[in-house]
Amino acid sequence: MEVQGRRKMLRFLVMLVLFSMEMAVPSTASRSKSNLSTQNHEVQAQLKLLNKPAVKSIKGPDGDIIDCIKLAHQPAFAHPLFKNHKIQMTPNFHPERAFAESKVSSNTEPGSSRKITQVWHLNGRCPEGTIPMRRTKEDDLLRASSVKAFGKKRHKTIPQPRSADPDLFSQSGHQHAIAYVDGDKYYGAKATINVWEPKIQQPNEFSLSQIWLLGGSFGEDLNSIEAGWQISPDLYGDNHTRLFTYWTSDAYQATGCYNLLCSGFIQINNEIAMGASIYPISGYHSSQYDISLLVWKDPKEGNWWLQFGNNYVLGYWPAFLFSYLSDSASMIEWGGEVVNSESDGQHTSTQMGSGHFPNEGFGKASYFKNIQIVDGSNNLRVPKGLETFTEQSSCYDVETGKGGNWGSYFYYGGPGRNPNCP
Ligand SMILES: *[C@@H]1O[C@H](CO)[C@@H](O)[C@H](O)[C@H]1NC(C)=O
Ligand SMILES: *[C@@H]1O[C@H](CO)[C@@H](O)[C@H](O)[C@H]1NC(C)=O
Repeated sequence: MEVQGRRKMLRFLVMLVLFSMEMAVPSTASRSKSNLSTQNHEVQAQLKLLNKPAVKSIKGPDGDIIDCIKLAHQPAFAHPLFKNHKIQMTPNFHPERAFAESKVSSNTEPGSSRKITQVWHLNGRCPEGTIPMRRTKEDDLLRASSVKAFGKKRHKTIPQPRSADPDLFSQSGHQHAIAYVDGDKYYGAKATINVWEPKIQQPNEFSLSQIWLLGGSFGEDLNSIEAGWQISPDLYGDNHTRLFTYWTSDAYQATGCYNLLCSGFIQINNEIAMGASIYPISGYHSSQYDISLLVWKDPKEGNWWLQFGNNYVLGYWPAFLFSYLSDSASMIEWGGEVVNSESDGQHTSTQMGSGHFPNEGFGKASYFKNIQIVDGSNNLRVPKGLETFTEQSSCYDVETGKGGNWGSYFYYGGPGRNPNCP
């Protein structure tokens, strides 16, 4: 009773804060109290849209609830665009396998399928014919600046190494340390990414490590497909390292979202949940863990597929979501990004990668290894002409290398604020 009362009180206070923040904006200063109930209504409606009836629910040790929902009930299909969409259960083509065995199944390879890769696996699994969805909580929505903004990126945050106006880019407060290729047509990208839990200075900042597949210019119609791991207290309410995806077809304006938080990505896999915590995490001078991600374009249907590890084909972004990417990507980027909000007038101490600089090497600095692209003949290849970019190498840096069974690789990251990055 008392706990419930406290929760209610807390929720009311959060809503009050949100409400008064909105009140502070001059153009909406005329809003009355009835907008509080409007917002509550919106929150409930959005929760209903995102959280579908579950066949089974699993509570993870991290506090997440994973709902196993029927494949056909996933939120993507709520959108009119998907009304006549015929769900693809397997890609027509896989760049790592011969055509003859392209009927990949995520569950049938012996031995590896029971490996724990997400922390909720400790408490259960989702049955076949369902997909695991991280349940969105009311508090998740209340942390967002608005119900509409929930699950979306706020700024134009794409690392733009050859921008005519580099200032424009760093003004967004986002900082990167990346490797990239451009100047060709790309039909996919792959990397094995070291997994860490970098520290975040404050909740409205994040730290991520990901692959970007970009199409078009960096204008208002930029197309982007993104996948990797992130820590985002605002989005998830904690500091755990989570698997995530993102997409947009208009430079983060009206389209796109994280994970399954809007119509877009269609999931077919019943083992891996978007937005769920990855397990285990690497330690400094200790055991190292990594995840492999492969994104590739099905040459027949044009859909962009996502594979996690060696045998989890998670699903796809339908070709019709995109303009430029419906043909090919024109740039691929791999690396880290953080938000530097400079809230106290100094550079943020939010870490990227392991929080240590590339020159510390294996077991200490974070890496991307076996970086590959899918070329015009649909072959996975080591990218030619890999370049690097970082806004301030004294805060976060990147160093590439080549050789042995790591193929093309780089170390990246850093601590953020330090004597050379005040
Ligand atoms: C509620 O807010 C909206 C803006 O989002 C405004 O147009 C509307 O007039 C407000 N409603 C009331 C009753 O103040
Ligand atoms: C996340 O980490 C920050 C410090 O890095 C800490 O202040 C905050 O309490 C943590 N949040 C949660 C939900 O654990």
